[in-house]
Amino acid sequence: MRIGILVSGRGSNMKAILDACAEGLLDADVAVVVSNRPKAGALGVARGMGVPTQVVPHRAYADRSSFEEALHQVLVDAKVELVCLAGFMRLLTDGFVERWHDRLVNIHPSLLPAFRGLDTHQRALDAGARFAGCTIHFVRPAMDAGPIIAQAVVPVRQDDTAETLGARVLACEHRLYPLVLGWIAADRVRVEGERAQVDGVEAPHQALLNPSPGSASGAAPADG
Ligand code: GRF
Repeated sequence: MRIGILVSGRGSNMKAILDACAEGLLDADVAVVVSNRPKAGALGVARGMGVPTQVVPHRAYADRSSFEEALHQVLVDAKVELVCLAGFMRLLTDGFVERWHDRLVNIHPSLLPAFRGLDTHQRALDAGARFAGCTIHFVRPAMDAGPIIAQAVVPVRQDDTAETLGARVLACEHRLYPLVLGWIAADRVRVEGERAQVDGVEAPHQALLNPSPGSASGAAPADG
């Protein structure tokens, strides 16, 4: 499977995907990394790993549709089969999303459909949520919407800040993204009636309670 990764920033998820490919844990090739920002840190990381990069600077285009047309052409030229959004900070219009229907995935740092948009960790803390996490989903025209493929759950600790919580969620993102791409590459993910089904996987058997009933002090469990 030929993957195109769209980035705007530091690219730690992109790096997790590239590492998984390099280590033979993910049977896919990253054909191109595309950034809308010329200064994105991700570009240097990708180049350092020998991966082709392209910059499609949104400011250079008169409107969204011409920007997206250029983006689409870069992906087509690189013979991309699956597009992965990894910290790509531009909203994509219906036209682009529909052209890549069920071939466009996003990672979002919350348990969707809760906390779409930005500042997810602070908003989860402000809401008193006991669990946070990340979601990988097929992209649909609405923001942070579309069939959910997988989620990772992180218990919120009483003393968490957006930074500490965000760091634990990010570690899960780096595990989950390559895993999901492996399922897609193996043709194990289907969308039926706007629900994604993954062949050959099981849900965990145990529920998580937070606070944990056994923890009188409310201290975080050692493995959390
Ligand atoms: C991640 O938290 C991802 O979930 C969100 O944007 C952030 C990108 O981080 N969509 P990075 O550039 O992959 O380090």
